Amino acid sequence: MDVRLSGYGAASTAPSHFNRMMADFAHTFRDGVDINLGVGYVNEKTIPVDLFHTALRAVSSDTGTYRQAFNYGGAAGSPNLVRALRGFLARRQSPLPDRYRIAIGPCGATSILDALTDLLPTGIVVTADPNYYIYSDTLERKGFRFVAVPEDTEGPCLAALDRKISELGDEAERISFFYFVTVNNPSCTILSNARRRALLDAAAAISQKQNRRIPVFYDLAYELLLHDPAGVPFRSVLPEDPLGVAYEIGTLSKVLAPALRIGYLAGPAGELMTAMVQKTADTGFSAPLFVQDMAAYLLDHHIEAQLAAVNAGYREKALAVSAAIHSELGPHLEELRGGSAGFYFYPTFRDTRTEPGSKFFERLSNPADPAQPRVIYIPGQYCVHPRGDIAEKGLRQLRLSYGFEETGRIVDAIRLMRQAL
Ligand SMILES: Cc1ncc(COP(=O)(O)O)c(C=O)c1O
Repeated sequence: MDVRLSGYGAASTAPSHFNRMMADFAHTFRDGVDINLGVGYVNEKTIPVDLFHTALRAVSSDTGTYRQAFNYGGAAGSPNLVRALRGFLARRQSPLPDRYRIAIGPCGATSILDALTDLLPTGIVVTADPNYYIYSDTLERKGFRFVAVPEDTEGPCLAALDRKISELGDEAERISFFYFVTVNNPSCTILSNARRRALLDAAAAISQKQNRRIPVFYDLAYELLLHDPAGVPFRSVLPEDPLGVAYEIGTLSKVLAPALRIGYLAGPAGELMTAMVQKTADTGFSAPLFVQDMAAYLLDHHIEAQLAAVNAGYREKALAVSAAIHSELGPHLEELRGGSAGFYFYPTFRDTRTEPGSKFFERLSNPADPAQPRVIYIPGQYCVHPRGDIAEKGLRQLRLSYGFEETGRIVDAIRLMRQAL
């Protein structure tokens, strides 16, 4: 006798291709031998464990500021953390307008992204191509469809966006929301400030036409990791959004520690923010309160030095890995993205396929010589829309992370890629 599952439950019984691939690799992974360029893990050296000791002591001893930090928290988030985030955002760029709210998710930015699938109508999500494959997989299992807009060097291409929206015809009524990652995962393409603004204008125009507010979510996951000194500082569109359709999703995972599971939604006070807080209550009351308060303490006292240290580390790695990619893989490259922010490179080969089953993938993940390190990466096939404009190109792409592994090992892996090519 089978358990009767919902559509989502049934769709979740089989692990996604990507999860299966990573599980297969992890199963036989040999520490110190095999090289994992696939995981989105941060570099362990960037995690400030000593500061966490200091923060926990501060939170547990100052019971006036950090009230009942080991009890249940309110669903809107720790008042200390909301205040600290506002202060941090004001120091980095413009203060969040007073009428804007911040809601802390129960479990990182991922829980905010997941909540959107319950709070907004099941329909069409307009996003970039390639896109954040983990979230697209969630959306797909929950019955959403995509309009995937190929990106150029500044982000999703406006002409393609216009064309794709007009091709929707009456179906455009089914657009549920827009979702853009400001340092895209997988490509680490930086969304320029002009494009960010233009995407908001496009969404506002469609909202006006349909006489409803269609939200635009900017996922800032890697925005704090702009490590290229030539990079232009990011500019939020929240203060200049008269229609109130723009929202930002942030996380402390990449700059403090993923295990904190602190993510937030910032946006205009209104029904969506109120519903998000209720959803947090439904999911788990709140993120652990003492962890939120530790994050508040760190944002108040240590975040600027931490950001400088983290970015110096990724800058050094980006330069060394970029040099290795150019010298080892140069003649095979059609295009290379990444290297200025975040911690992924995203090469496109001229004519070598990268998907599981391709000679390149198999030779790296299952070398004939068992003494040779096995190398894993994220094939572009999992990141592009399977029926989108760049589906073929995706078969020649890969995401290579320089976050987790140390530089010497990444360079070793790139040499093995050259041999495989
Ligand atoms: C684009 C993007 N959004 C969100 C997340 C998840 O963030 P969190 O750890 O806060 O759940 C990631 C993690 O890799 C990401 O790449």
